[in-house]
Amino acid sequence: MRYGSPRTRCRRKSRSLILKILLVNGPNLNLLGHREPEIYGAETLDDICNRLISIASSKGATLVCKQSNHEGEIVEIIQKARFDAANRMDAIIINPGAYGHTSIALRDALAATALPFIEVHISNVYAREKYRQHSYLSDIANGVIIGLGTYGYQAALQALLDGKGL
Ligand code: DQA
Repeated sequence: MRYGSPRTRCRRKSRSLILKILLVNGPNLNLLGHREPEIYGAETLDDICNRLISIASSKGATLVCKQSNHEGEIVEIIQKARFDAANRMDAIIINPGAYGHTSIALRDALAATALPFIEVHISNVYAREKYRQHSYLSDIANGVIIGLGTYGYQAALQALLDGKGL
């Protein structure tokens, strides 16, 4: 059975065709696959990016992957997603790493863009040290995915492709 008027169906299709999503990973996430694999799993960041890029492109969307170990650089990446015409994005998926627990600058940058964003943490931060149990981003995020391993990135992408939080 098909749902929705032809007009609605058409609008949904064209939205996914223009969807540009930024995936940004913070400090130490360049070491995925090597870093504490019992916590963060065996997939490398390249594996994750390639998988998400191919899922996005199969839905007519574009995914751009960035990673930085430097707080200011991440702020600039986020700013460009909204204010640099050449790098303009429609939504952000962010694993801020440890900066999620410490960085008001990242929070301010995400708030400044007013872009929908999903915060992802690979591990269940609530089952870990107390200092990982606060995030400066979560209360302004459209969604938060925690503890699903590296599948969490794919879950975030799928949610955005389905129009959740947009
Ligand atoms: C993390 C959790 C953070 O506490 C930690 O500093 C990271 C990774 C995660 O994906 O589980 O670097 O964001």
